[in-house]
Amino acid sequence: MLLPFVAEAAILRSYGQAMKWLTTVVPMRSPAVFDGPDATTTLCEHIAEAGVERLLVVTDADLRGLGLLDPILENLERLGIELTLYDHITPDPTTEQIDEGARLLRERDCDAVLAVGGGSPIDAAKVISACATNHKQVRELAGMFRVRRRPKRIFAIPTTAGTGSEVTVAAVVTDSDDQRKLPVVDGKLVPHAVALDGTLTLGLPPRLTAATGMDVLTHAIEAYLSRAANRRTRQYAASAARRTFAYLPRAHEDGGKDLEARQQMLLASHEAGRAINQASAGYVHAIAHQIGARYHTPHGLANATILPSVLAHSRPQIDPQLAELALYCGLSAPGPGDTALADRLLEHITQLCRRLAIPVALDGLLVDDIPALAKGALREARMLYAVPRLMRTRDCERLLSGLLPA
Ligand SMILES: NC(=O)c1ccc[n+]([C@@H]2O[C@H](COP(=O)([O-])OP(=O)(O)OC[C@H]3O[C@@H](n4cnc5c(N)ncnc54)[C@H](O)[C@@H]3O)[C@@H](O)[C@H]2O)c1
Ligand SMILES: [Fe+2]
Repeated sequence: MLLPFVAEAAILRSYGQAMKWLTTVVPMRSPAVFDGPDATTTLCEHIAEAGVERLLVVTDADLRGLGLLDPILENLERLGIELTLYDHITPDPTTEQIDEGARLLRERDCDAVLAVGGGSPIDAAKVISACATNHKQVRELAGMFRVRRRPKRIFAIPTTAGTGSEVTVAAVVTDSDDQRKLPVVDGKLVPHAVALDGTLTLGLPPRLTAATGMDVLTHAIEAYLSRAANRRTRQYAASAARRTFAYLPRAHEDGGKDLEARQQMLLASHEAGRAINQASAGYVHAIAHQIGARYHTPHGLANATILPSVLAHSRPQIDPQLAELALYCGLSAPGPGDTALADRLLEHITQLCRRLAIPVALDGLLVDDIPALAKGALREARMLYAVPRLMRTRDCERLLSGLLPA
């Protein structure tokens, strides 16, 4: 099967170029960003000034239980906005939840949507809004650029750092029928305005801080290595990686008090989101999405466990970029060659994972599932990502076998 593989590699190179061109010429909305401890209040005022009268607030029940939403809801009500609360979103939102949310949006005639939460409520809010105005089911919008009508305005307050979903063109929904993850990718999903307020992430437990923080690092690295990367996306990606290396250990170890580390991680998450928007993610995400859909492994945790193996697969092609990143992140003084610098970056990632107690194997992974998981991952990657080095089915299967639990 060498010939189809060579042909696919050539297509991949053209695809990278085409994506680069497309994301440069297609205008992409950039949300208004408020950051710091007053950001949430400022965003509420912004929503009122934008003339929103009836707002659908999309969140999850745990966050509501933690009382995180109370001041936000009080603020919005004081500003005279009529609120409809939808708090049924679970980690990895489902098509059923989207249908229910879209029905509510239409019934209450809401003119905008506000997501408060991690990637799950934010992704859900984006797709609820698109499904409602397009009168479509998620399956009909899955893929690239299939959202015809403009969704109702979308606002977002991330409470994890995180997916960067508050700035990305993407949203991922799990099909309630067959547990497949359905990525919806469209510029119309980018929120209009967002608040990055580190105080909302102070209560994020260390386990979630670690997993979501490693999602940031994975976005940064996959975007940096993408064939569709340009100067701007590389700047965002490198800055996000540098902030993550510097602040994730602090956020993990003293996250209840270290507001600086929390705020920096939200900025890193946002920058990494801007980077993947144009450059795309890669095989780590393609594989993690299959793992998440089948075993409900938290997204960031799956990414963190898979990242070292995908980087190892792509070497030595990616050594020059890994070396640049190692220098930019201050992990080594200049001098050693690319290979040594790339080794240094990989060692640093491994040490970080160990410090964050990230497992080295994918809990629950079954050997019999590997062929289907590999097939799903390669299908997703072929459709969406400008990866630096192509993976064959057997490479992907071997990679997954290396992550089987003992
Ligand atoms: N749109 C994108 O570009 C993009 C990128 C990567 C991942 N994703 C998707 O995002 C989802 C994962 O999002 P996530 O990792 O942010 O987690 P999440 O939104 O699924 O939340 C995980 C858990 O953290 C809790 N939580 C959130 N904020 C908290 C806080 N401040 N304090 C205490 N608990 C808190 C939630 O209640 C939930 O139980 C997945 O579905 C993934 O596929 C989307
Ligand atoms: Fe991600």
